Amino acid sequence: MQVERELAGLKATTQAWRARGERIGLVPTMGALHAGHTALVDAARREADRVIVSIFVNPLQFGPQEDLARYPRDEAGDLEKLRQAGCDLVWLPTPAVMYPPGDATRIEPAGPAEGWEGAARPGHFRGVATVCTKLFMMTRADLAVFGEKDWQQFQVIRRVAADLHLPVRILPLPTVRDGDGLALSSRNQRLSTEERGEAGRLPRALEALAAALAGGAPREPAMGRQRRALEAQGFRVDYLALVVPESLQPWPAGASGEARLIVAAHLGSVRLLDNMPVMIPPRTEA
Ligand code: PAJ
Repeated sequence: MQVERELAGLKATTQAWRARGERIGLVPTMGALHAGHTALVDAARREADRVIVSIFVNPLQFGPQEDLARYPRDEAGDLEKLRQAGCDLVWLPTPAVMYPPGDATRIEPAGPAEGWEGAARPGHFRGVATVCTKLFMMTRADLAVFGEKDWQQFQVIRRVAADLHLPVRILPLPTVRDGDGLALSSRNQRLSTEERGEAGRLPRALEALAAALAGGAPREPAMGRQRRALEAQGFRVDYLALVVPESLQPWPAGASGEARLIVAAHLGSVRLLDNMPVMIPPRTEA
């Protein structure tokens, strides 16, 4: 497995691959890798001839009050996991490679980037869209795999790639979960043992809500009940919403079809994100 920190090395290798007609799959990450990330690598391997994983803790997507300095880093452990996962090249740019002196261009996504995480974290999706666009163009990847775990991020990146005609296919991978249903996340490391024991209640609440809505339960009372139940269990809920999957707009009253439940909730000092699909049945008149 090749490890590159400078553009010259990255470009020499990717040019040789392209000259041989090999398709390149990219998995963008911020490191502290877990089984969710390696599942993305597996998916990229199935779809492409060569797999690049980027590890870059992107300062541009963190707000001034956020956890950039505390973000977990484990380069040696990450490289070992990627070797085992069959990654071909790890792209480890420094901030100076990603944002060299004079760098001044930003990608400003709207549409699906507005609301929810976009509202809670001003500038976050601008940072994500900018770094991902740079990564797509640096690697000239044919496809890039993103986790459904960050549903809004996946939709934002899809939108950016379509709007800018970026020559990259954006593929989703379903959320990888722990035994109790909790979505794997680098931030789970910061839960206390007790909090970790409670955290599985979040996906269970989403499952229960999805089942109720799919069974025709009226939306507002069902959502209100689950929200209050979570708060009684010690979660501080930022949002719990039913949205149109691609646009992230609130699900229109009376509509039927495939919707998405999205949630962000604090447990102690950790902000947990999750989401699930839900089929909303046609309304039956009493
Ligand atoms: P990071 O949080 O490291 O996540 C990298 C990728 O792994 C994202 O596509 C994310 O959705 C996916 N992922 C994380 N946990 C997952 C899980 N439990 N199951 C499936 N996929 C999972 O997301 C970022 O980094 C950054 O914003 C990035 C896109 C790299 C831009 O800086």
